[in-house]
Amino acid sequence: MDKLVITGPNTLSGEVRVSASKNATLPILAASILFPQKIVFNHLPKLSDIKFFLEILKSLGAELQGDLERQVIESQTITHTVADYDLVRKMRASILVLGPLLSRFKKAKVSLPGGCAIGSRPVDIHLTGLEQMGAEISIEKGYVVATTQGLKGAEISLAFPSVGATENLMMAAVWAKGKTVIKNAAREPEIEDLANFLNQFGTTIEGAGSETIVIEGREIEDYQKSDKSDYQIIGDRIEASTYLIAALMTKSKVRVSGVNPKHLRSVLDLLREMGAKFSEGEDYIETERFSHNLKGVEVETAPYPGFPTDVQAQVMTLMGISQGNSLVSEHIFENRFMHVPELVRMGMDIRLEGKKAYIKGVEHLSCAPVMCTDLRASAALVLAALVAEGESHINRIYHLDRGYENLEQKLHQLGAKVKRVKA
Ligand code: UD1
Repeated sequence: MDKLVITGPNTLSGEVRVSASKNATLPILAASILFPQKIVFNHLPKLSDIKFFLEILKSLGAELQGDLERQVIESQTITHTVADYDLVRKMRASILVLGPLLSRFKKAKVSLPGGCAIGSRPVDIHLTGLEQMGAEISIEKGYVVATTQGLKGAEISLAFPSVGATENLMMAAVWAKGKTVIKNAAREPEIEDLANFLNQFGTTIEGAGSETIVIEGREIEDYQKSDKSDYQIIGDRIEASTYLIAALMTKSKVRVSGVNPKHLRSVLDLLREMGAKFSEGEDYIETERFSHNLKGVEVETAPYPGFPTDVQAQVMTLMGISQGNSLVSEHIFENRFMHVPELVRMGMDIRLEGKKAYIKGVEHLSCAPVMCTDLRASAALVLAALVAEGESHINRIYHLDRGYENLEQKLHQLGAKVKRVKA
């Protein structure tokens, strides 16, 4: 098992390019199940989550050629409609194969993803929506077993704008008879990217990115292969936010490129409220060097366009060394404060009360051996280690490898003293 050794404090400079968005790539890979043709993806992010997902596609019978730099996926050959526990248990997002399998093959059996470290994460909203479209669903021996005579368009109002449920239902609606309307849909940029991908392959989806999405269902028999078979996925707004916060933690001037600044609006707004200054281009954001400390603020996580839960741990770390008090309220996941005890071990002053974290800014952090607990909590520990005095050892970084491509190389390129060693 690897660990990261970071020696602080660090000053960063230069440019870092973010990879393709993990959370856009996963549903788009699932959507490739829908189309019996070759699809080419350039520059897929080199992440363990993406490799697991490709394993699932392979287990269904898809033919994979090339590598993540140029991944060719042929879904014509898919025959198998069961996603096994051994693969699904590694990653919750595997449930995203349910909608496309059911839509194209009228049956699917997908292991029910369990809870995960950050919360119980049920899939009831996915299943209720599919039932409204005419699926018969049962839970048998830990699997979701879904069958249908043929899905039908429906008007579905989501109980909560779940990202995964919106994606599953959009994909299910592609080969359903008639029009599907998803109300109270999630509005994340990754939903829009999925719709753009689907539309490139001949679907008619309108409204993605707003709270009402309309999908005109078609007959799979009428499918005509798309001439343009390659697709470039949007840049990762969560990775971008993490590097911007790294720059602010270390009071450095850094350009983060390969991302649409519009996708980070709520993050940039909050960081500006803390006193940060940025310049922006079409696909980059640059921090300004500064000497004063940023100031504490209050933030609550919310579905997009609100402040993303996936940046909560990182921004809390910045608050931990800012002037005065801050308050973070986590509304999306029930157990997303696992970074707090580790940050406290590095010298932060954070008190937890239910869904709220009260943070008092401190002047200095000290190095410590710390343990990653989930993906974004791990990023928070890396950020703290960048400014802590001395050598911090960050253990269990397989969590980081799920969502940050070449993290240590990218930080190293910005001048950070960081190395990966065998633990
Ligand atoms: C996606 C992201 C994840 C992000 C999250 C919220 C991917 C691969 N993952 O996860 O990084 O943190 O959005 O922005 O894109 N819920 C239910 N029933 C359901 C579905 C969800 O109760 O059927 C609850 C969940 O337990 C959670 C909340 O709704 O508390 C948000 O979940 P959801 O938006 O579905 O997140 P994911 O798609 O799992």
